[in-house]
Amino acid sequence: MTKLSVNINKFATIRNSRGGNNPDVLKAALDAERFGADGVTVHPRPDERHIRYADVRAIKPALKTEFNIEGNPTEQKFVDLVLEVKPHQVTLVPDAEGQLTSDHGWDTVKHKDYLVELVSIFKNAGIRTSIFVDPVEAMIEGAAKTGTERIELYTEGYAKQFIENKEAAIEPYVKAAELANKLGLGINAGHDLDLDNLQYFSDNIPGLLEVSIGHALICDALYLGYENAIQLYKRCLTKG
Ligand code: PXP
Repeated sequence: MTKLSVNINKFATIRNSRGGNNPDVLKAALDAERFGADGVTVHPRPDERHIRYADVRAIKPALKTEFNIEGNPTEQKFVDLVLEVKPHQVTLVPDAEGQLTSDHGWDTVKHKDYLVELVSIFKNAGIRTSIFVDPVEAMIEGAAKTGTERIELYTEGYAKQFIENKEAAIEPYVKAAELANKLGLGINAGHDLDLDNLQYFSDNIPGLLEVSIGHALICDALYLGYENAIQLYKRCLTKG
């Protein structure tokens, strides 16, 4: 069964737009697991424009399910935060400062030495590492050489093409997943997954361990309610 990790950054974006503590980000994390999520994801950025470092510190001890912290490790303060908080998983994402959202995976060939070093730092601290990659064979092979336990497939390309041609959209992801399975890499996925495209992705990707979903799930929650939205996303992950 594929795990659903709910990315709660949007709660922090709304909170920060007015100051104060409404909505309460810690409560959003605990409610996600109460409503059936298998884990919670946060993506602190250097400018703390949504999730703050203090949120990350508060969530970890309160959470019973899996905690996944995403971010760019070129920021030393991100690495220090992860090592301090010790989540179950850190997802390394090569996003630039101020970037609206992640829009590409790592070049795991060019940055191999750097990634090898980071993976070993986190591994020594008992934290599982996942490397954000495009569904490109050379990048999957490169990821395997870093020693990472998992990759996270960047699914924006899938989500965009799904509307026109879902068979063509899924094809590179199936190939990437088959290669990752062969190389012994665990597979996560995320970005732009939603109630329309998630079930097909989940049904067709062999060995999909976890998806992390934020934007669409929180948008759906505005209309459907948070608990209901989480339950609907969970249902998409049940193999038919
Ligand atoms: N995975 C990574 C690495 C991300 O940066 C994001 C967005 O923060 C997600 C998954 C979730 O994407 P979305 O908000 O589109 O569901």
